[in-house]
Amino acid sequence: MKTSNNISFAWFITISTLCFLANSQLTTNFYSKSCPNLLTIVRQQVKIAIKAETRMAASLIRLHFHDCFVNGCDASVLLDGADGEKPALPNINSARGFEVVDSIKSAVESSCSGVVSCADILAIAARDSVLLSGGTSWPVLLGRRDGLVANQTGANLMLPAPFESVGNITLKFEAVGLNLTDVVSLSGAHTIGQARCATFGNRLFNFSGTNAPDSTLLDPNMLSGLQNLCPVNGDGNQTTPLDWNSTDLFDNHYFQNLVNGRGVLESDQALYSSDQAVSTTRSIVELYSKNPKTFFTDFANSMVKMGNIQPLTGSAGEIRKNCRVVNS
Ligand code: HEM
Ligand SMILES: *[C@@H]1O[C@H](CO)[C@@H](O)[C@H](O)[C@H]1NC(C)=O
Ligand SMILES: *[C@@H]1O[C@H](CO)[C@@H](O)[C@H](O)[C@H]1NC(C)=O
Ligand SMILES: *[C@@H]1O[C@H](CO)[C@@H](O)[C@H](O)[C@H]1NC(C)=O
Ligand SMILES: *[C@@H]1O[C@H](CO)[C@@H](O)[C@H](O)[C@H]1NC(C)=O
Ligand SMILES: *[C@@H]1O[C@H](CO)[C@@H](O)[C@H](O)[C@H]1NC(C)=O
Ligand SMILES: *[C@@H]1O[C@H](CO)[C@@H](O)[C@H](O)[C@H]1NC(C)=O
Repeated sequence: MKTSNNISFAWFITISTLCFLANSQLTTNFYSKSCPNLLTIVRQQVKIAIKAETRMAASLIRLHFHDCFVNGCDASVLLDGADGEKPALPNINSARGFEVVDSIKSAVESSCSGVVSCADILAIAARDSVLLSGGTSWPVLLGRRDGLVANQTGANLMLPAPFESVGNITLKFEAVGLNLTDVVSLSGAHTIGQARCATFGNRLFNFSGTNAPDSTLLDPNMLSGLQNLCPVNGDGNQTTPLDWNSTDLFDNHYFQNLVNGRGVLESDQALYSSDQAVSTTRSIVELYSKNPKTFFTDFANSMVKMGNIQPLTGSAGEIRKNCRVVNS
């Protein structure tokens, strides 16, 4: 009995180790021989794209997030088609930057054809976008391969909505191996980029049937600005910065905004103001609002964790030629 327990234990250790290895197959030097200039090429292309449109940094970071939460970081979000992820609710009229990813991919292909995955390009572009917006940096793990299927149901099911509670959003992060620290640090990406009226207009006039705006939106100037931008039955595609303090800078002002009732999305402000936040996210928001270095360190760690969600490695999947379609 004792021996068989020991054997089971030995197997447990072996299998746990194998699982751990399977999870850490990505490496920083994966393309050092097959595409030595990869990081320079992607950096250059991201620079060009951000110079043409500052917001593109935000859009590229979000693509990596929307990729990784659905079937892992496998570039499934990039696949065209009516049954793809692009028409899913969190992405339609919202996810953007696909043309920029095409440009990066073709620049990479012309230097090293057929070796770099679209999933890795998203991971590098996200890192570069944060850095080029004034934020932190981290060594990007590489070696992901591209998936063969998109998952529209998965996109609708797994991606968090701005109308969800902190508890529900946390469950969605936990479903992909991320925790409460990751929820808050990664939400800090909302320090750049824009949101459409359709995603927060419900807060402005008759919030949850109260006949009043969301009482956690404390800044009267911001409230009237948003009410003017997003009248009832107005154009839901109108956009406003997620961070009204320093719109295009990757800094910790998003968290300072939350402490001051200046979050744009209901889900953003809920990280500080909701009842659920009191014993969960509120203290982390306060920490990051006062300590930009801690935010940067935690954000970098969380991005690496997010980039490690279920990557395809070895001979799984493929290296797509065109990021929008599976190879024939
Ligand atoms: C915590 C749950 C999250 C929710 C509920 C959420 C929701 C949203 C919504 C509703 C928008 C505006 C989309 C639109 O109006 O079309 C948005 C934008 C954005 N999100 Fe999130 N998000 C979350 C987490 C994240 C994470 C983890 C990241 C990246 C690490 C991220 C990065 C961004 C960026 C950069 C934008 C601006 C995109 C642009 O300007 O093109 N978000 N998010
Ligand atoms: C789509 O995503 C859902 C939710 O993660 C998952 O249960 C399902 O197996 C996925 N389907 C495919 C075809 O990958
Ligand atoms: C949370 O998730 C549950 C189960 O999916 C759902 O019934 C509920 O409406 C959600 N609530 C919020 C506020 O997100
Ligand atoms: C989340 O995970 C990280 C390690 O990835 C850990 O350092 C951190 O303490 C965890 N946070 C919580 C709230 O469990
Ligand atoms: C506010 O919303 C509630 C519930 O949806 C509704 O009954 C009420 O008529 C609305 N008030 C106005 C002024 O539209
Ligand atoms: C946003 O624009 C798209 C495409 O032009 C349109 O189909 C959609 O109805 C608009 N959405 C909202 C919420 O107004
Ligand atoms: C942004 O926040 C800083 C620090 O709280 C403040 O000094 C500055 O006036 C704010 N800027 C804007 C445009 O709100």
